[in-house]
Amino acid sequence: NTIEWDPEETGKSGYDHYMLKEIHEQPRALRQCLQGRVDELGGEVLLDELGALDPDTVQFVACGTSYHAALYGAQLFRSIGIPAQAFIASEYATSVPPIENDLVIGVTQSGETADTLSALREARHRGAKTLAVTNVVGSTAARECDEALYIRAGPEIGVAATKTFASQLITLSLLTLHLNGSEDDRDVIAGLRDLPSNVQAILDDTNAREIAEEYHDSDAYFFIGRGLHHPVALEGALKFKEISYEHAEGFPAGELKHGPLALVTENTPVFAVVTGDGEQARKTIGNVKEVEARDAPVIAVTDGASDVERYADHVLEIPESTPRTAALLANVQLQLVSYHAAALLDRPIDKPRNLAKSVTVE
Ligand code: AGP
Repeated sequence: NTIEWDPEETGKSGYDHYMLKEIHEQPRALRQCLQGRVDELGGEVLLDELGALDPDTVQFVACGTSYHAALYGAQLFRSIGIPAQAFIASEYATSVPPIENDLVIGVTQSGETADTLSALREARHRGAKTLAVTNVVGSTAARECDEALYIRAGPEIGVAATKTFASQLITLSLLTLHLNGSEDDRDVIAGLRDLPSNVQAILDDTNAREIAEEYHDSDAYFFIGRGLHHPVALEGALKFKEISYEHAEGFPAGELKHGPLALVTENTPVFAVVTGDGEQARKTIGNVKEVEARDAPVIAVTDGASDVERYADHVLEIPESTPRTAALLANVQLQLVSYHAAALLDRPIDKPRNLAKSVTVE
């Protein structure tokens, strides 16, 4: 259930930075993540490494990018009727929720993040079953939890988490499909199959660099999204601030009008993730109109299913797909914008100031 990665791969292979190399490794990482786990004919997901899991409720604990993956995972669990909530790991112990046949899932790329390990220990101490969703075989989280599920992304050297975020989203998606086992999952499973080539299509033809060129000296950058695109908006902003050192914030699209809209000007580009043409897209387009009316440049990250382009200054296109894979595809475009903005600003992309790849203090 683990995948061997060639040590050669830890070189930059001609890319200027590990981050760019790792963004480009996503199709392969996703294939590795899916390999042997999806029975498309049977419409089933098989995660042999897991023992029996039948939780009444699920609590996620995680930090940073992994917390954004946890927010996404919690939504997927709720969509299959299992109450689930994501906690920032360092806040979990301050008021541990009641635990009763709960599964506590620690999402941690490194498996060594002190805040996450401490939250998992607290949960275990209170009687919860624990599961580590991690990239590192034999990591502390994998060893200490009752169960471990590997995201199989391969080594990630850049401090900014990129391919591991994509692999976390897909692993959590596989986990909910494994637990759900419903006929309705067939479309979702087909969406997962197409995902690596859809990511490749973005990497082969993206205008992310032009967007970065146009806006990289703005006052601030905002990212908005609804539902599964909310964690993507948060992640888009985290990546942007982490490597470009520019002020960036992500918001649930509907929350802008409750305060942050006061910050929006003609010099604060707003990245809006809008896919499909349903109710959520319609509402987010309403929020896009609100920022457009304040003269903010709008960059829509979209699959073209709605008419959001009418209200946008630029479009970052993604292939048509299912809602859960659209979130991941939109994130790839945002990763590329952050990367190019940071490169134009000449930042030390792989080792941003004050940050470490693995944070082993609380
Ligand atoms: C994101 O780019 C960061 N590297 C950071 O937020 C990271 O996701 C966080 O520190 C958690 O790390 P982990 O997944 O190894 O636990």
